[in-house]
Amino acid sequence: MKKLIIGLAVSAAFSIPAVAQESVEVLHWWTSGGEAAALNVLKTNLEKQGVKWNDMPVAGGGGEAAMTAVRARVTSGNPPTAVQLLGFDIQDWAKQGVLADLTPLATKEGWDKVVPAALQRFSKYQGKWVAVPVNVHSTNWVWANRDVLAKSGVTSDPKTFDEFIADAEKVQKAGYIAIAHGGQPWQEATIFDSIVLTTGGVDYYRKAFVELDPKALNSATTLKVFQRMSQIRKLVDKDFSGRDWNVASGMVISGKAGFQIMGDWAKGEFLHAHKVPGKDFDCFRFPGTQGMVSFNSDQFAMFKLADPQKTAAQMKMAADVMAPSFQSSFNVVKGSVPARTDVPDTAFDACGKKGIADLAEANRNNTLVGSIAHGHAVPAAIKNAFYDVITRHFNGQIDDKKAVAEMVSAAQN
Ligand code: GAL
Repeated sequence: MKKLIIGLAVSAAFSIPAVAQESVEVLHWWTSGGEAAALNVLKTNLEKQGVKWNDMPVAGGGGEAAMTAVRARVTSGNPPTAVQLLGFDIQDWAKQGVLADLTPLATKEGWDKVVPAALQRFSKYQGKWVAVPVNVHSTNWVWANRDVLAKSGVTSDPKTFDEFIADAEKVQKAGYIAIAHGGQPWQEATIFDSIVLTTGGVDYYRKAFVELDPKALNSATTLKVFQRMSQIRKLVDKDFSGRDWNVASGMVISGKAGFQIMGDWAKGEFLHAHKVPGKDFDCFRFPGTQGMVSFNSDQFAMFKLADPQKTAAQMKMAADVMAPSFQSSFNVVKGSVPARTDVPDTAFDACGKKGIADLAEANRNNTLVGSIAHGHAVPAAIKNAFYDVITRHFNGQIDDKKAVAEMVSAAQN
């Protein structure tokens, strides 16, 4: 008996205690080459601290499919550690009481002072931090292949909508696809952001698509917006339907197409293909929207977890995302700009530097608006109703006038 007890004591003393490795499970839609490269920066950072990364990618730009996956996980009582969410979606989940409170960490690290108010409006719910902003993207950009433009006789960046159309027509006449586009509702809505801004300016944008003022919506300006969407429609190729956005970026990268109207995540694809801004490609604000920025910010919403060990890893992830060095290294790869105002632009290329300067300028001048297409203007229910009208119009199922009327009723429901 004595022998047995000693034996047990000895084996207990020499066995390694079973400490489970800390881990995070992250649900996101960053599956394109550029997106995955950017996410890898965060993954590597955490792994260096011994935190294992369990990846939950749900393909589909703009995140529609991802939102269905989140719903399934949360309703079954088993949420992931962190979920990539946009704007109003964060608020919707916060309202349901399923998000963790990050306020103690936020206070300790002084997030209130460095995160722009336009982002905090979504990161916080009833005064408490529930999500960490990883970037600021903006949607009113155009990406251009320099070689294609030169061969088409386009000599300088267009400054107005009409100049842009004239340039795109030149590209088309030269035998290229003028505008590379992927026919998915969120991509059409992304173009719509720019067309609304260039046609009506920020006041109209806010009145019609943020405040949902029926007069502003049911107006000659909205009619012009849809007429211009029809002009864009004539400049995309016949195979646009269903195409992924990064495939469309690839068409500009490879010299099949001249332009893509897309948020600055497109730059991530150009960089991933080793293309250099100012040499191989150009970035410029959608013509007529210079000085205005329609933004969206990817945030990692942190869900309430029962296991304290998982919560510790979750707080590590939140702190990592907010670190200034991470905000620089991640956004350099992603195409976006930092979600903190105190991150230097030194590591960024020309497009990134312009993005940082434009954001600060728009913030100062009150010309910064939330993207309609990417969930920062209105909640998902209205956003999706808008998507439906914009897409049916783009596909020729309803005419310009009918589209205006349907936008008015979409906003009312
Ligand atoms: C946006 C998101 C970007 C980019 C894009 C395409 O909604 O904010 O980070 O990933 O979708 O997937």
